[in-house]
Amino acid sequence: MTVSNLRPYQGILPSIGDSCYIDESAVIVGDVSLAKDVSIWPLVAARGDVNIITIGARSNIQDGTVLHVTRKSNNNPLGNPLIIGEDVTVGHKCMLHGCTLGNRILVGMGAIIMDGVTVEDDVFIGAGSLVPPNKTLESGFLYVGNPVKQARKLKQSESEFLKQSADNYVELKNDYLNQ
Ligand SMILES: CC(C)(COP(=O)(O)OP(=O)(O)OC[C@H]1O[C@@H](n2cnc3c(N)ncnc32)[C@H](O)[C@@H]1OP(=O)(O)O)[C@@H](O)C(=O)NCCC(=O)NCCS
Repeated sequence: MTVSNLRPYQGILPSIGDSCYIDESAVIVGDVSLAKDVSIWPLVAARGDVNIITIGARSNIQDGTVLHVTRKSNNNPLGNPLIIGEDVTVGHKCMLHGCTLGNRILVGMGAIIMDGVTVEDDVFIGAGSLVPPNKTLESGFLYVGNPVKQARKLKQSESEFLKQSADNYVELKNDYLNQ
């Protein structure tokens, strides 16, 4: 038996865009689509079995993060896929489950984002935050806490950092790909 870190589920293999970097200790299973320049760091688990996972261009999923989804059911006909937009930074050891993230978002280390959550574009989520099911986080704000609360509007420097962080990780993964 050959063991790969990209594994099929029911015949569907992950789809990997151009110039992605996937650490060999990460495990990606089933219907998971990575767009161009995505990076997946050590010990990430992304399991697209009972629903789909998509990750937009230039997003990075840092070490130890878990990505999963919820199956379709009678009272939840679409289930909860996991949709991550472009230029999103997901810090170390986060849990993203069946939620939808827009573009230019930073998910702080250890944050938990639960089913049915929508995070609009340009949001900063503090380290260790818990975002309860079905909540919407509004564009342009910092959120912190358990359960998460809107803390304040983002400073201009923080708004700019959202894209900068993604750019930094594209550069870093290019270094890894070229070594
Ligand atoms: C929230 C954050 C952005 C700091 O925001 P800030 O407005 O500069 O916060 P400050 O450091 O001035 O602290 C303000 C208050 O928030 C608290 N605080 C700071 N970070 C917090 C967090 N993640 N969760 C809850 N409270 C937090 C501070 O203790 C302080 O409380 P106090 O007023 O009672 O003393 C930062 O702490 C953070 O969590 N960054 C995420 C970093 C990260 O995980 N990056 C990804 C890894 S690559």
